[in-house]
Amino acid sequence: MNFLNFYNSYQNRINKKLYDTLNNLPFQHSILIKAMKYATLVGGKRLRSYLIYTIGEIFKTNIITLDAISISVELIHAYSLIHDDLPSIDNDNYRRGRFSCHIKYGESFAILAGDALQSLAFNILSTYNMPGVSNKTRLKLISELSNAIGSSGMCLGQTLDLKKNNKNSLDISELEKINLYKTAFLIRSSVRLSYLSSPIFSKKIQLLLDRFSIFIGLAFQIQDDIFDFKNDIKKLKNKNSKIQNIHPSLIGIKESQKKIQTLYKKALSILKILEKKCFVINKLEFLTNLIIKSSMSI
Ligand code: IPE
Ligand code: IPE
Ligand code: MG
Ligand code: MG
Ligand code: MG
Repeated sequence: MNFLNFYNSYQNRINKKLYDTLNNLPFQHSILIKAMKYATLVGGKRLRSYLIYTIGEIFKTNIITLDAISISVELIHAYSLIHDDLPSIDNDNYRRGRFSCHIKYGESFAILAGDALQSLAFNILSTYNMPGVSNKTRLKLISELSNAIGSSGMCLGQTLDLKKNNKNSLDISELEKINLYKTAFLIRSSVRLSYLSSPIFSKKIQLLLDRFSIFIGLAFQIQDDIFDFKNDIKKLKNKNSKIQNIHPSLIGIKESQKKIQTLYKKALSILKILEKKCFVINKLEFLTNLIIKSSMSI
């Protein structure tokens, strides 16, 4: 089986859905819509969507329902990246291989584009046709996603992340907490939304999937930090830079990679449990490998 083909087909599917969603909005000529499209349509790896479609495929969630979930999650993710790059947060001029939204459209419109992407995400989740999903379940999805990204989720993680650079010393467990909130929660939420919409939902499986998604979410952020670390070192821009207090700067690249390996093994052990329960987990295994391998090849 060629897993890369599957990944590409899901990427194409979500790209088309995002394109249609944004192109169907009114006020197409407004700078707001242009900035929203700029930040959403080009260059994302769509890893969260891959997770959503794959979990949905394994647990038999309707594909149209998965479209709604993937669109919502990618819109939230795009909003989070616009705001993450702002001068008052990470001050990054580049995103996905081109100028950040605020460099291209200015800070004010970038902030508003992020806001509008967030509200569009919840509009999609509350109104999109979702076969097989009752209104009660739909409310659960909205509640889950809003919890994952708000003041006890991603935004809290981003807050702790900003605060961490003022500290002289940072415990590795504090760093793990930041990564959990700012990154792993949205990844767990992607998996939860897909699984909550499954006709064969069970609490036991949900707990396994929660652990799996947290392990890959934490590994994913450390991998991203190694990448940023190496890039920043290359550019010699580490004065006051965000590479302070991240895994590779605290414990070194080798130890960070070991940590990723440990998380990888933990994630795989959960997949093995699911396999014993007769679920076909090879596409999730592929994704888990993809996250780990990219950190090793940097
Ligand atoms: C970047 O996420 C932000 C982190 C949580 C590390 P991705 O690496 O998934 O970003 P895109 O969507 O592929 O650009
Ligand atoms: C981003 O983390 C996390 C969120 C956007 C919530 P980073 O700041 O490490 O992501 P990059 O490196 O800018 O993609
Ligand atoms: Mg950041
Ligand atoms: Mg950043
Ligand atoms: Mg980063």
